[in-house]
Amino acid sequence: MTKKLVAVVLLLCFAAVSALADGHGKKHREREEHAREGREDAVPAITNPLYLQACGECHFAYPPALLNASSWSALMDQTGDHFGEDLGLEIAQAADLTQYLTANAAENSPGEIARDIARDLGNSVVQRITEIPEIRHEHRTIDETVFARPAVGGFGNCAACHPRADQGCFNDDDVAIPGQ
Ligand code: HEC
Ligand code: HEC
Repeated sequence: MTKKLVAVVLLLCFAAVSALADGHGKKHREREEHAREGREDAVPAITNPLYLQACGECHFAYPPALLNASSWSALMDQTGDHFGEDLGLEIAQAADLTQYLTANAAENSPGEIARDIARDLGNSVVQRITEIPEIRHEHRTIDETVFARPAVGGFGNCAACHPRADQGCFNDDDVAIPGQ
């Protein structure tokens, strides 16, 4: 993704948060502060239609910035046995997806979340985003029984609690945990 496109995508998240701004003075300044945090808390949204189609069918399409390149490569080397599923991808499709995922992996993406994930993982390989220490740390106050709620559908179902996860927005102001 080009630098310009990344900036536009982050701005969209930023603009959506700014749109909440109402009133003036202190409240307005607080909103602006939140808007800046919103941008820092965002990862670039997904721009690749093949990725959305091939990797968003069974679960939330995870933005590439949530894993490092070596983990994406390892995952894409095993598409015949992806957590027990054969993804049935053609070689050329898998190569395109691997290229997209690694080019936009945590270490190649802007923002605080990506930076923290890249720092946590270095070149190590993990199977899951939900294994990353930084991601676990951000959710340390949430009980296992909450993730197990049918309306949540597991820790890996980011969009259940982060309504703008598909835009790369994970800001904790936006979080809403569904009930039973
Ligand atoms: C046929 C269904 C299916 C498709 C298509 C699919 N996945 Fe998955 N994926 C799964 C299952 C099943 C799991 C494991 C879910 C669990 O145990 O919580 C999973 C888990 C994952 C995880 C770990 C999530 C976590 O818990 O942190 C990642 C990352 C992932 N998939 C990426 C991809 C990518 C990239 C693609 C496209 C190349 C893809 N998936 C396509 C079924 C699928
Ligand atoms: C059960 C609901 C739930 C699920 C599922 C969930 N989160 Fe969260 N997440 C939260 C809550 C609540 C917070 C805020 C925690 C706090 O402030 O103590 C949070 C915080 C975060 C933060 C920190 C945001 C900030 O502003 O500092 C990130 C990043 C994040 N989540 C990413 C993810 C990702 C990625 C996934 C999927 C792999 C995910 N979350 C799944 C509820 C959830």
